[in-house]
Amino acid sequence: MRKNIVAGNWKMNNDLAQTHALITDLKKQTQTSKAEVMIAPTYTSLYAAFEALRLDKIEVIAQNMHFANNGAYTGEISANMLKSVGVETVILGHSERRAYFDETDELLSKKVDAALENNMHIIFCFGEELNDRKTDNHFDIVESQIKNALFHLPESTWNNIVLAYEPVWAIGTGETASPEQAQEMHAFIRSLVLDQYNNDVAENVSILYGGSVKPSNAKEIFSKPDVDGGLIGGAALNAEDFFAIVNAFNMSY
Ligand code: PGA
Repeated sequence: MRKNIVAGNWKMNNDLAQTHALITDLKKQTQTSKAEVMIAPTYTSLYAAFEALRLDKIEVIAQNMHFANNGAYTGEISANMLKSVGVETVILGHSERRAYFDETDELLSKKVDAALENNMHIIFCFGEELNDRKTDNHFDIVESQIKNALFHLPESTWNNIVLAYEPVWAIGTGETASPEQAQEMHAFIRSLVLDQYNNDVAENVSILYGGSVKPSNAKEIFSKPDVDGGLIGGAALNAEDFFAIVNAFNMSY
């Protein structure tokens, strides 16, 4: 079944003490929506966050991982290491990884395979840059990012995949895709999955929107039929704002 998910991507923010402080604040919030809630702290805070949230409904997820299980990859972290600290879900393909760390579709495809081999769930991110949209290439770009990294996968693995459409021009900029732009792209993405697989896979895959989601715009974005949740950056660093976004689901049904 398609799930509603709101995931907070903390990026390179919050040291250990700040992680504990934000989790304490998050625990004070009341959840009234049916969305699943996830947070992605930085690696050094993952285990502490997992322990602190063991009895809560907030899932702790990772922002990235390497494709190998172990070996001479100085500075990297593998799927089984993440699993050993309680992490079952990983964000892959975030535009900042693509832009600043040269992550290509080819590399991401390997990471996707490694995560699935380790029985992990994936939030797979993709999205066009401003120039792609201005030149009307946004559908082509999104199509190739999805095809290149995911369409080699067997149907059975799609239970472990969540898609996250994040137009690069909307990330951290205060600019948001309009609800109509988000819906148009999400419907297109679902049609790609339908063409490659079947109605079951297309209807059951959750497609999140990311890019300057805030308490003030979440309800309208989430009200669109093909938007199943959000990947939240800046607003996830404040517990009240984050839960205002989580609870925006309630208002849309
Ligand atoms: P933002 O980030 O909400 O700060 O725009 C979203 C993301 O990068 O996932």
